Amino acid sequence: MPAAGSFPAVEIRRVLPDEHERAGALVVAAYRALPGEHLTEDYAAELADVARRASEAEVLVALADVAGAPCDEIVGCVTFVPDRSSPWAELLEDGESGIRMLAVRPDAQGRGCGRALVEACVARTGELGRSALLLHTTPWMTVAQRLYSSCGFERSPERDWAPVPEVPLLAYRLAMP
Ligand SMILES: CC(C)(COP(=O)(O)OP(=O)(O)OC[C@H]1O[C@@H](n2cnc3c(N)ncnc32)[C@H](O)[C@@H]1OP(=O)(O)O)[C@@H](O)C(=O)NCCC(=O)NCCS
Repeated sequence: MPAAGSFPAVEIRRVLPDEHERAGALVVAAYRALPGEHLTEDYAAELADVARRASEAEVLVALADVAGAPCDEIVGCVTFVPDRSSPWAELLEDGESGIRMLAVRPDAQGRGCGRALVEACVARTGELGRSALLLHTTPWMTVAQRLYSSCGFERSPERDWAPVPEVPLLAYRLAMP
């Protein structure tokens, strides 16, 4: 993990059309950097397609001052799924929002961007008046699991599933106050 400390400032906002490609590339890079050989080329292409997710859900990006200039580089990306009507909804029930494809550029990890993106999704869930935020992760995404737990998410094993046997998905749920 980088020893550089947290970024002094992280800006979270909706992705702009001319940023789709860069945001998609960072999501693929973050998933590729995970331990093991889990990323198929089909799934990499899906991860890269931020344009589609931005039109069918809400894509948020994190900007930080990697190069010394204030908040000018996209270093993180997440897809917020407002409700179960979105094609990106993964086992959402009525009243729930979802998180998909959270990622921070490998060279910017460990500096607070992942947490800022999750907190932005929690805030959006509250704005929409939803009852809970649900997501799925994998056993090899251990940093993400710790992050979700420390943000208040709880394991929800009854909602685990596996799109294919080699990809077990672990459900985490945050009940909104
Ligand atoms: C999960 C991920 C988005 C977290 O982003 P991040 O910017 O590194 O997260 P943060 O800096 O906000 O750190 C969150 C917590 O994880 C810890 N952490 C971050 N990177 C770490 C590392 N490499 N090793 C150990 N702990 C780490 C931080 O210390 C922090 O914990 P703390 O607040 O208790 O100190 C990022 O690691 C990533 O892109 N992973 C690959 C893709 C992935 O697994 N996505 C999840 C999809 S469900």
